[in-house]
Amino acid sequence: MSKAEEAKKLAGRAAVENHVRNNQVLGIGSGSTIVHAVQRIAERVKQENLNLVCIPTSFQARQLILQYGLTLSDLDRHPEIDLAIDGADEVDADLNLIRGGGGCLTQEKIVAGYASRFIVIADFRKDSKNLGDQWHKGIPIEVIPMAYVPVSRAVTQKFGGVIELRMAVNKAGPVVTDNGNFILDWKFDRVHKWSEVNTAIK
Ligand code: 5RP
Repeated sequence: MSKAEEAKKLAGRAAVENHVRNNQVLGIGSGSTIVHAVQRIAERVKQENLNLVCIPTSFQARQLILQYGLTLSDLDRHPEIDLAIDGADEVDADLNLIRGGGGCLTQEKIVAGYASRFIVIADFRKDSKNLGDQWHKGIPIEVIPMAYVPVSRAVTQKFGGVIELRMAVNKAGPVVTDNGNFILDWKFDRVHKWSEVNTAIK
């Protein structure tokens, strides 16, 4: 296992070890780090007979929950989540996050938004002083397809930088998210007041 994979595993398992308790509703994030957390959740469910319900943040998360034999639910049945666990692409010194590198950001944000607690699992490669120090692919923005041009223009006119429509691999055309949307990757060219940027993008 590579050093990075080992670090992801340590972070994912530590989150589950330290924060998951019996009778919780869990939000299950997306990406490669969360796989290690789900593996540890499944082990603990078996070993400790835990009663946990899992709300996915993507198709991938749903498949993981099913693959590991965990209890799958949704926000219709469980609109209040005790703890959401998810990855991040980068974390700055003020704990601002870039998320959505894996293209699952909208459901991730909804699930985190309805969780009482949110735990981010991130390995050493993602630890930055300023956003953009480590992650060079920009800030992902999920956008309804008909609006991708005006949204791109609005963001770059207000904050500068360059926006790219994320293109698919092994399929012609753009990446289409689990929600049928497009993803813009905004390559910003300076450090911003991130709370202001976040509000403007929303
Ligand atoms: C997916 C995400 C992921 O949480 C983020 O990209 C981290 O992924 P990984 O654990 O594979 O580094 O936001 O959209």
